Amino acid sequence: MTRHFDTLIVNIGQLLTMEGDGPAKGEQMKALLLLEHAAVGINDGKIAFIGKSEEAKSFHANIVIDANGKLVTPGLVDPHTHLVFAGSREHELTLKQQGVPYLEILKRGGGILSTVQATRKASEEELFTKAKFHLDRMLSYGVTTVEAKSGYGLDEDTELKQLRVVKRLQNGHPVDLISTFLGAHAIPPEYKNNPDDFLEKMLRLLDTIQKEKLAEFVDIFCETGVFTVEQSRSFLQAAKSKGFDVKIHADEIEPLGGTELAVELGAVSSDHLVGASDDGIARLAGSDTIAVLLPGTSFYLGKEKYARAREMIEAGAAVALSTDFNPGSSPTENLQFIMSLAALKLKMIPEEIWHAVTVNAAYAINRGEEAGRIVIGRKADIVIWDVPNYAYIPYHYGVNHVNTVLKAGKVVVE
Ligand code: NIG
Ligand code: FE
Repeated sequence: MTRHFDTLIVNIGQLLTMEGDGPAKGEQMKALLLLEHAAVGINDGKIAFIGKSEEAKSFHANIVIDANGKLVTPGLVDPHTHLVFAGSREHELTLKQQGVPYLEILKRGGGILSTVQATRKASEEELFTKAKFHLDRMLSYGVTTVEAKSGYGLDEDTELKQLRVVKRLQNGHPVDLISTFLGAHAIPPEYKNNPDDFLEKMLRLLDTIQKEKLAEFVDIFCETGVFTVEQSRSFLQAAKSKGFDVKIHADEIEPLGGTELAVELGAVSSDHLVGASDDGIARLAGSDTIAVLLPGTSFYLGKEKYARAREMIEAGAAVALSTDFNPGSSPTENLQFIMSLAALKLKMIPEEIWHAVTVNAAYAINRGEEAGRIVIGRKADIVIWDVPNYAYIPYHYGVNHVNTVLKAGKVVVE
């Protein structure tokens, strides 16, 4: 009996389905299910067939895409971005060249606080247009699911304005967006001497955020000169008690113990981890918290030190990768470049890198059962790459290897 599909992708050179259960931990990461000379059939936006291209010869389809021997993978998942902001910070590049540290720029009222000023002034429409521009670019790089944080308002109106932009994009953009409230991203000048009052104020916003379904995660920047471990603990505990899942910007610049706190709180992810302690890594490995590594930040801040991915993986932690797209520490939408950094700086092997930008990244935003894999019945988020094999992408760096992107079965980039 001949089968009929809306769309059929044939002549796939290598098909990475990333099939398996749960996030990939330690040794398991090395195995990749790879199908050669494959085909994928799509009906109603969902995967309906995975098999040999030979078998698909008898199938009918409205649209047939010839992959011509190329690599086909799930759409990439970027689990940590600061998508919505106004302005840019190219002037800080000179300061950095002069050796002024990132946290010193922030202390002087620049850095995050300079983007806060610009974002407070911008209209919702301006923020929407700019965020959409960056999101379109992410999609063009093969990213079909993106987490987006607020955190450049640090006051009620602007934080809500940022979150509403994400909500509008959720309703109108092909990329799936997951929203995070990062009201605790920095201490605004008006609360310089009473950060606890500021955190209280941000917590009071949670009811509105919940009522209007503006975010599902709450995050905090736990860092020297920003929020302490104690402040982060009580802030995130309060968020959890209201039903939010939590994330932490942990041990990004200085080792404070944010990694341990993430595990203690059962955070869905613990992000950055450049300064994570041995104990923090051991605890992560024994937990369900996903380690989200952002090597673009070490690279862009000119640091020698990168997160200890090898030790994390070998201890059995599930590692994801992300751009950390933001105007200060990582202005790039290009997750493919991050895959190269992961190979060169984190010493991750291609199999680990692919898990980190698909399955594990999806688990880092509670989408492990929906995104990051090509499985029958799942949404057809698929990328056809202009490369012969999966190891090629981290190897050939700095360019866009995308040929075609399908989102929920529709061609959105070609
Ligand atoms: O993840 N560390 C805090 N937040 C961002 C940087 C934000 C900015 O510099 O604007 C980060 O690195
Ligand atoms: Fe970040």
